[in-house]
Amino acid sequence: MFGVCYYPEHWPQSQWDEDATMMAELGLTYVRIGEFAWSRLEPNPGEYNFDWLDDAVDCLTNAGLKVVMGTPTATPPKWLIDQHPEILPVDPDTGRTRGFGSRRHYDFSSAVYLRESMRITEALAKRYGNHNHVVGWQTDNELCCHDTALSSSDLAREGFQDWCRQRYSNIDKLNSDWGNVFWSMEYRDFTEIELPIGAVTETSPAHRLAYRRFSSDQVIAYHNPMVEIIRQHAPGKFITHNFIPMNETAVDNFALAAPLDFTSYDNYPLGRTDLLLNGAPKEQLQRYMRTGHPDFATYYHDQTRGLLNRGFWVMEQQPGPVNWANNNPRPAPGMIRFWTLEAFAHGADCVCYFRWRQAPFAQEQMHAGLLRPDNSKTEAWPEAEQAMAEVAALDIGNQPLQPASVAIITGTEGLWVSDIEKQGEAYEFNQVQLSYYSALRELGVNIDFISVDSDFAPYSIIIAPSLPIVDQDFVDKCKASSAQFIFGPRAGAKTSEFGYPDTLPPGLLQQLIPIRVLSVETLRADCTEDLNWNNQQYQSGSWREQLDAAETTVLARYEDNQPAVVTQGRFTYIGTLTDREFLLDFFQQYCQQANIQTFRFGEDIRVCQRGDLIFAFNYSDQSQELPLDSDTSLMLGSAHIEPHGVTVWRPSGT
Ligand code: GAL
Repeated sequence: MFGVCYYPEHWPQSQWDEDATMMAELGLTYVRIGEFAWSRLEPNPGEYNFDWLDDAVDCLTNAGLKVVMGTPTATPPKWLIDQHPEILPVDPDTGRTRGFGSRRHYDFSSAVYLRESMRITEALAKRYGNHNHVVGWQTDNELCCHDTALSSSDLAREGFQDWCRQRYSNIDKLNSDWGNVFWSMEYRDFTEIELPIGAVTETSPAHRLAYRRFSSDQVIAYHNPMVEIIRQHAPGKFITHNFIPMNETAVDNFALAAPLDFTSYDNYPLGRTDLLLNGAPKEQLQRYMRTGHPDFATYYHDQTRGLLNRGFWVMEQQPGPVNWANNNPRPAPGMIRFWTLEAFAHGADCVCYFRWRQAPFAQEQMHAGLLRPDNSKTEAWPEAEQAMAEVAALDIGNQPLQPASVAIITGTEGLWVSDIEKQGEAYEFNQVQLSYYSALRELGVNIDFISVDSDFAPYSIIIAPSLPIVDQDFVDKCKASSAQFIFGPRAGAKTSEFGYPDTLPPGLLQQLIPIRVLSVETLRADCTEDLNWNNQQYQSGSWREQLDAAETTVLARYEDNQPAVVTQGRFTYIGTLTDREFLLDFFQQYCQQANIQTFRFGEDIRVCQRGDLIFAFNYSDQSQELPLDSDTSLMLGSAHIEPHGVTVWRPSGT
């Protein structure tokens, strides 16, 4: 299924009918509207104006389209901010209030804003909850985007003090858990607690972890009642939220997603590639600047799907150049179709393009749409048409999600720990997780992202690239599972209050693999050293742990013959960051041992299975021969995969 993001309030009403007719002719099913329209829905306090939205919904539904209604809470109107300026958040880095004039200018700790958000949500849900053609709802818009999870307002400080009161039974416990005796940081009462912001130098990591946990809880406490109100007034309609990259929300995304029917993701592969490869050598960026890096889109598709372990939507799909990255290239010809098929291959149920028509005013006038401001069709239009025809012909939407045999354990605590305790420049959660994912994807392995709370039973191999905080339940689950576990460096290295485990890292994981991390060194990224595995040399660097591994089998050794990668039974521990080649060869061997099929077709080819279909995506601008068997039943394309092309075939035996 397909859809589009539309802003009727941006266009004269006389244009709506024609827009709706063209959307239907293109073959779209869904139109998302409403998510920034508060100032038009309630132009003055308490004075609702739904007439125009009624008309817009009528225009769309008369054309046979279905509406996804967004709650407009990402954009509190000026009168509301003037009435209650304390709604505005305070930037923790600068201490400045983040003012009115763009979006997301609200503080998750503001009880007034919570009340006002629920009021407008309820008004909207009452109005459209039972509308036959308003089939679903989107909560807010990209929660926490623009670094808005954290605020250092007075309200946030008070909220944090209350949160600490709940979590730590008394102030002595908090002082002891945070190690506040160090540097005389002890508090006498919860009311004395500061936010870990603006101090002369580093604040206590436990204090910072608590602030992250608190801020995450605030976001969830804001979002959950919104879902409840919509449920109450829109029975039987779906509720989703459009996520940004999971590492950017800075919150517990599994908890955030929990009350939704399915998750959605806003997919901007070129903007993301530009930002993530900022500072990388030119050759690396230039190669992918018009296609996106082969793993950046699916990395988030797979994580989005994993939050609820079911099909997801792409709520916003980049249609051309965007306006917000450092550089905003045009996609290579074919990429809109390519990204669309790729999303379906990774479990999407629907792809919606952002946006219908480029806006000739305000902040995003340099952002492409399916139409230009003069109503001419952009290159994205025929590509979307092609993708729709192919998705229909392949019947991808009816293919079941592919059960993966390999899972990556993810979670926000790993990100928080790596943000808080950098130990140099070497270790960055998202880079570490992405490098593991990327190697597995280059092997053509389907990946599920799971949490420590997920069911481990479906998986033969479970990999935890960055899992610094574990509890006994997790250890017990690992023991009870029959999977092979691979832990990356830093696993189990911190207690739940950001302390050093009494028995040294990996702490509780010593029950699974009897090692001790004696010390850690971090090194400049370009100062790598040899890592020897399987009589071959790879590179180790950036983060290297000195292991006492006397009771385990050593698989790989550092240059000086010290253990680097060790294993015992079903548990393997990688005590260092490595080059890509090591991860590729190492994971391939584990997959082979577990009878998991791999397709190592080259650096720029990605293979993925959904149900009865295997897809190959060629990110390179060169064609390539896929080494398929001659009797392979091809469904789309050929073994000669074109530049930026897609080939689809059925697995042998089906
Ligand atoms: C998204 C956002 C949209 C629009 C778009 C531009 O992050 O949800 O409202 O701003 O980016 O690429």
